[in-house]
Amino acid sequence: MKKHTVVITENFHPQVIKQQLKPFVKVLHAKSQRDLVKHLSKADALISLVTDKIDKKVLSYGNQLKVVGNFAVGFDNIDISECHKRKIKVVNTPDVLSRSTAELSLALAFAAARRFTEGESLCRKQQFKGWHPQMFIGQELYKKNVVLVGKGRIGVITGKLFKAIGCQVKWITSKETPNQIKSKLKAADIVSVHLPYHQKTHHWLNSQKLKYLSSNAIVINTSRGPIVDETALIHVLKQRKIFAAGLDVYEHEPKIPKKLSSLKNVVLLPHLGSATETARKGMAESVIHGVLKVL
Ligand code: GLV
Repeated sequence: MKKHTVVITENFHPQVIKQQLKPFVKVLHAKSQRDLVKHLSKADALISLVTDKIDKKVLSYGNQLKVVGNFAVGFDNIDISECHKRKIKVVNTPDVLSRSTAELSLALAFAAARRFTEGESLCRKQQFKGWHPQMFIGQELYKKNVVLVGKGRIGVITGKLFKAIGCQVKWITSKETPNQIKSKLKAADIVSVHLPYHQKTHHWLNSQKLKYLSSNAIVINTSRGPIVDETALIHVLKQRKIFAAGLDVYEHEPKIPKKLSSLKNVVLLPHLGSATETARKGMAESVIHGVLKVL
């Protein structure tokens, strides 16, 4: 008889779940909010996704819950202080997705700099009438000043990758003064955000900071949507106060405002930072290992 019960909200990696979770614990799949509430009352652990809101109310059903494992590196979807109060441990999946997210940040930088949105849409509409010397002139990334906001695991790897293609890389850390931030942003050709989301990072990139950017600057966000003031970003993109943006996350995800998606100088992706087989397998192993260790 298996001793512990683990509730999962999604079959996040069927193969890893089958080989590394199911042999050791009883797994209950909560396919709806109703299921979740029902299963939680007898669960020792819950494995959630970044899209699951694990708030006070949800946690209140987990009378014997010992651990919440988040299939993500970010855990802004979980009420951490409520977990502390209830003595529930929280584990996440750091490291395994850093490379994948860093690579996507560069992909977005290339795509935004080379105007993929416009080029792609022309081709898909069958409107490509042949090569032209002035068509969709973009920017090379070589020798550009890259400013990375956040020097955690993902920020560090992203910096290494930008350096490898010949960029000058600087980081903005939490120790920076407003004046240092201002001067770094003023000199930036690319600003890429790699912060965790919490109260203090809400709208970190606000209209004031966006004003420091030059007209050829590119903003990349693969972290969390609400760290960038989306309305302010739309404004500077629309007014061509900056060159472009590459976004993988949105302020009110999964909603993408029409005002944003109608802009040509923005590349939009549906939260794909960790969407590689290597990262997702690593995340599955990491969250399962973390949860089983607590149990
Ligand atoms: C995904 O966004 C994550 O935090 O892992």
